[in-house]
Amino acid sequence: MPGFSTRAIRAASRIPDAPQPPLNVPIYATATFEVSDAAELGDLLEFAQPGHSYSRYSNPTHEALEAAVAELEGGEAGLATASGMAAVHGVMLSHLETGDEVIVPAAVYGGIVGIAQSVLHRAGIAVRTVDTTDHEAVADAIGPRTRLLWLETISNPTTAVADVAALSELAHANGVVVAVDNTFASPALATPLALGADVVVHSTTKYIGGHSDIIGGIVIGSAERVSAARKIVINAGGNASPWEAFLALRGLKTLALRMERHSTNALAVAQALEGAPGVAVVRYPGLASHPQHELSCRVLRGGMAGGMLAVELEGGRPHGERFLGRMRVAVHATSLGGVETLVSHPASSSHRQLSEEGLEAAGLTPGTLRVSIGLEDADDLIADLVAAAG
Ligand SMILES: Cc1ncc(COP(=O)(O)O)c(C=O)c1O
Repeated sequence: MPGFSTRAIRAASRIPDAPQPPLNVPIYATATFEVSDAAELGDLLEFAQPGHSYSRYSNPTHEALEAAVAELEGGEAGLATASGMAAVHGVMLSHLETGDEVIVPAAVYGGIVGIAQSVLHRAGIAVRTVDTTDHEAVADAIGPRTRLLWLETISNPTTAVADVAALSELAHANGVVVAVDNTFASPALATPLALGADVVVHSTTKYIGGHSDIIGGIVIGSAERVSAARKIVINAGGNASPWEAFLALRGLKTLALRMERHSTNALAVAQALEGAPGVAVVRYPGLASHPQHELSCRVLRGGMAGGMLAVELEGGRPHGERFLGRMRVAVHATSLGGVETLVSHPASSSHRQLSEEGLEAAGLTPGTLRVSIGLEDADDLIADLVAAAG
């Protein structure tokens, strides 16, 4: 008879039969999977047969999230990652080699500037920053080394809307691949692959998770592109956690409902703040005053424009700080896309990598505030934010 420890380990590893499928995807909290022989393990590690070998490579909970988001984005395959930045890294490094160039929007998440400075630069990959709302400027910027055009469906934080269809046509005519960060819109509002993009990334930390309780990311695209990104992510160790993949799956179930409420709340707040005392400019794609309002009605579904606003206050940075200190309902924190309204100051947080000129090129001033409108009652948010601005 084996000893107690041996029996305990065996007994506690026995997988139960569950003939009735659970309603939710189980969390496969396992680093590794038992194989029958070395050939099977070799095949699994090469993805030459279906199944799982080691959770840095793949895991059934990740697989469920990958399939779900791929279906919602209209993509062939998906790759769940440790963070949105791991997804960005996987896509960039699988499309770019030393000597190549990537075009990124001037108005873009600060992490893109971060990866350009800390990773792409070291790899000898050039990054060209262009106002991607100006299609002539994009056409002029495409050169013989350009391999990738990076876009955000709705830009962080200035809410510029990308004309993914027109820019994809332009890029493809020049042999350039189009990657779109669809984090701000979520697949409930926009599906860039259907507009012509080649690959999509999300920070699932934001709207897909929806509750500010996970860090995660995902890549969606053709099986070939996703498999190339997977190779990078496996070797860089950027794999997702099954616990967080489970929470992202749970978030997906209410994504459509949340995006509706984020959008109606954000429109109500944007309308109330526009012209309110102390407010210079409100940028929200749902406002008629937004430079790409018409485009946003074409790109974003259901008359919704998402939950993100950029608010420029009169009085610049000191008034921005006063605003943050006066809020009673909204919370001063970085991140976005959760049930609670979060306000941050990009110049000192998400976009701290940018110089004064970089901020200006991105359409930001040192006083711009990024507002992620949550699911609270619109009247409470309006009262809180209008009072904080005045
Ligand atoms: C548009 C966008 N993309 C990517 C990221 C990076 O995501 P994560 O923080 O999950 O790595 C963020 C984070 O704020 C973001 O706003």
